[in-house]
Amino acid sequence: PLVAEIAGRSDLAWRVSALLRIPRVIVVEGDADEDAWVTDRIGQAGSDVLAEVLQDGDIIAVTGGTTVAAVAKAMSAKPLRQRITVVPARGTVGEIVAYQANTIASELAAKLGGSSVLLQISDSLSQKALEQLLDDPYIQERLPIIRQATVVVHGVGDALAMARRRHATEEEIKLLEAREAKAEAFGHYFNARGEVVYAMRTIGLRLDDVARARVVIAVAGGQKKAQAIASVANAYRIDVLVTDEGAARRILQLE
Ligand code: G3H
Repeated sequence: PLVAEIAGRSDLAWRVSALLRIPRVIVVEGDADEDAWVTDRIGQAGSDVLAEVLQDGDIIAVTGGTTVAAVAKAMSAKPLRQRITVVPARGTVGEIVAYQANTIASELAAKLGGSSVLLQISDSLSQKALEQLLDDPYIQERLPIIRQATVVVHGVGDALAMARRRHATEEEIKLLEAREAKAEAFGHYFNARGEVVYAMRTIGLRLDDVARARVVIAVAGGQKKAQAIASVANAYRIDVLVTDEGAARRILQLE
């Protein structure tokens, strides 16, 4: 039965890969919406992929969230000979500290024996604060490192679920609904076609930086994220998707 199960999952992975045009798809057993520990399996598979692709001098940008946190948690401590820098993809606020990009970046750096560059700013700024921060030496020193990330490990969220988690205003929620936002990743909201319909005003990795990265790894599971995963796959190049059976089966049922 085990062999059949694995074969079943690799068939699922192959079909999702073909549908979403993501070259490498890994499907772990279960559904993160039903069992929280499935996220740990995604984390384990994600950390294996990450360890495998790393090269000397890499700058890894990580986003926040429970799934990317699971990648860092699953990484075994292995001081690498390679010089690795880990950075948060953007500032973070309004999340539990353990799931903030800064926390994850420093944990991952510690495991890999690398260094981390942190960005201690809110991920939602006024236009004025944003302009002032861009002139700030602290930011001017860090932002170029973040924007040169060579490896990106990011989570994907359902647009409205993420907006609520970030305590978006009613006005923002209405806007996201009106623009049919389906997915959120790095503070960008996307519709089903992968168009950016809203972006949080913040400092950090931009979509064109993601396009320049050598390897982009998306980690997201649970059937409720199926539409969000399909939407980001239309938005930018993802090289590796680590997901679960729940999301994979649902993705194949999408129109
Ligand atoms: O951008 C998406 C979210 O960070 C995903 O968070 O992994 O906790 O669902 P999650």
